[in-house]
Amino acid sequence: MPQETVKNKSAGNSLPQPKTGVLDIAPYVAGKSKAKSGVTVIKLSSNESPLGASPKAAKSFTDSADSLHRYPDGSAATLRESISKVHGLPADRLICGSGSDELIGLLIHAYAGAGDEVLYSEHGFLMYKIYAQGCGATPVTAPEKNLRGNVDALLAAVTPRTKIVFVANPNNPTGTYLTKSEMKRLHDGLPSSVILAIDGAYAEYPRLDDYSDGRELVAASENAVMLRTFSKIYGLSALRLGWAYAPAHMIDVLNRIRSPFNVSTPAMNAGIAAVEDTAFTEKARMFNDQWLPWLTTELTSLGLKVYPSIANFILVEFPKGKHSSANANTYMMERGLIPREVMNYGLPDCLRITIGLEEHNRAVVKTLADFLKS
Ligand SMILES: Cc1ncc(COP(=O)(O)O)c(C=O)c1O
Repeated sequence: MPQETVKNKSAGNSLPQPKTGVLDIAPYVAGKSKAKSGVTVIKLSSNESPLGASPKAAKSFTDSADSLHRYPDGSAATLRESISKVHGLPADRLICGSGSDELIGLLIHAYAGAGDEVLYSEHGFLMYKIYAQGCGATPVTAPEKNLRGNVDALLAAVTPRTKIVFVANPNNPTGTYLTKSEMKRLHDGLPSSVILAIDGAYAEYPRLDDYSDGRELVAASENAVMLRTFSKIYGLSALRLGWAYAPAHMIDVLNRIRSPFNVSTPAMNAGIAAVEDTAFTEKARMFNDQWLPWLTTELTSLGLKVYPSIANFILVEFPKGKHSSANANTYMMERGLIPREVMNYGLPDCLRITIGLEEHNRAVVKTLADFLKS
């Protein structure tokens, strides 16, 4: 409901009013997890890892039961050390959060407010918009070409009010990416006072020489930050764990405004085991290497348009009419397969489908083949 309506409704009485922008927020809609009752559910709507968490991470989580009465280490020092060791990044330039969502929110909260702009790509991750609106800042989008982020369009949209530019790389829900040199060009073109936030929620999956998670830009500048999550390849979505690598002055700012115990002990312990279990991570990556191209090829040969993804999901475009994305969604849901509708990303003809286990991927192909014949 637009804010004005609420104001009018409350005229004459003293209802508390949220800050400007809050009531303009369309709440985030999570991927569905329930299909028709009686059918086996295959959830492919939230880009979770089909292999689940590393058994070592699960054990660390359950072992944490002994210390539930103790507050966590608010600085997440041991987890930061583990991330530092595995990723070769300085531990004092890392910050952990309750999911990378929290870190996106903290960044916007710290650097943008009323009158400021938060810029992102046309089909970028929705939380950038939601947190910007929540802080009274103005979300601004730059147009894409063929569902790919466009450096020139992003740079053209920068104004003196721009505080942060978010680029999910690879992007959700399109699965497309900016190359390392495109990202550098974007960074080079930004004023030094504007933050480039490179959201690498899916950064573990790509294997391309021209792809980078952006760490080199963070290392060499004072206005780039890289965000990462344990929710995708590490299979720890339920624990809410993410981290950021940023210049020291930004780490200092984020530490000032985060809640003192923002990451729970079970999440930290599981995260340590997960990031150190590099063999398990590689297994999950290799699994995706096999099934991402398989699903892409199979659905393409059914005549559907599949956007080239380098993440753990694909974006599939359906024709208008009888075989529309809405009808495909219903058809899949009736058979227990749950894709993600993406009309709120401005993609009404598409469905996003997470790479699942072999039998899930085969079920997607069979179901969509039947749907297209129906
Ligand atoms: C691009 C992107 N960024 C951030 C997130 C948030 O991840 P989390 O808060 O689970 O770490 C997601 C989750 O879907 C995502 O797709």
